[in-house]
Amino acid sequence: MNLQNPKLTEAPHRKVTKAIIPAAGLGTRFLPATKAMPKEMLTVVNKPIIQYALEEAYEAGIREFIIITGRGKAAMENHFDYPYELADTLQKKGKLAELESVTNILPKDARLYYTRQGEPLGLGHAVHCGHVITGDDPFVVILPDDILCRSNGNDLKAMIELYERTGQSVVLAEEVPLERTVNYGICDPSGPIVNGSMPIKGFVEKPKPEDAPSRCAIVGRYVLSARHRQYLANAKPGKGNEIQLTDAMAQVAATEGFQAYLQQNTRFDCGDKVGFQMANLYFAMQDPYIAPRLMPFLQETAAKFERRKEPREG
Ligand code: UTP
Repeated sequence: MNLQNPKLTEAPHRKVTKAIIPAAGLGTRFLPATKAMPKEMLTVVNKPIIQYALEEAYEAGIREFIIITGRGKAAMENHFDYPYELADTLQKKGKLAELESVTNILPKDARLYYTRQGEPLGLGHAVHCGHVITGDDPFVVILPDDILCRSNGNDLKAMIELYERTGQSVVLAEEVPLERTVNYGICDPSGPIVNGSMPIKGFVEKPKPEDAPSRCAIVGRYVLSARHRQYLANAKPGKGNEIQLTDAMAQVAATEGFQAYLQQNTRFDCGDKVGFQMANLYFAMQDPYIAPRLMPFLQETAAKFERRKEPREG
């Protein structure tokens, strides 16, 4: 592939049906829970975090899922496999709803591939490990830590439609308060927001509020052109001695242009203990069995700790 040639090696409006899901991280913020269990298998109500990501992506039109794994992540593969013994037992006991929940996690036309990252050399490296399957096709990247609600439509689906219409890569962006730009990669706009998206010319990594080109932070969904593959193949380790996905995105923004799509739904960062607890409460409150029992408990507990002004008990 010729990096000097700015022409696309792909048809710009090719359909997007493949997703890379990096899940090789160590999950240090959840230790000791993640000592022997993948972070992606922590449950939000009764489903592991990664299942939310795959369901969202399937709804958006993704049919091939490339999951980037590492040491100690086998539970994820087992979760999406057909569980013969369990299925047989549930069938014999007549537990048909439970049987359905373990045998039909994804529709039959979804295909899952797993590849190991080997060394945790950063998000860009993890994504590049998936290119053996995506080849010269455009692809989606989903960070499974982020659970995106869909009450206001499927944001990923809208991003894919934007890519297929414009031929430009798309990143999901969330407007954050100015004082929080130091925690995120921030979009550098080249035009105004029109119909929920804006053109961008680059990205600034964790800028101070006074240096931030916008308040639009990159969050865990991307629709990327095949050119990213070329840049990642040639990438040198950057910040933190890791291969950064945003470095490749910045190069693509300079040659092909890029779009930011403004998030239309609530997002929970389940890679963080606070976001994870919030996600559990949010989904539990929509469950007809849990909600009526949980609500009075929450109100009582909040009142109790409010009175005591203590963060924790025991
Ligand atoms: P994070 O840095 O948030 O995840 O990476 P982490 O390393 O698992 O978590 P902490 O910070 O130690 O608690 C964002 C996403 O990128 C993946 C992670 O699995 C996560 O989904 N990732 C990151 C990789 O797959 N490989 C890497 O080398 C780095």
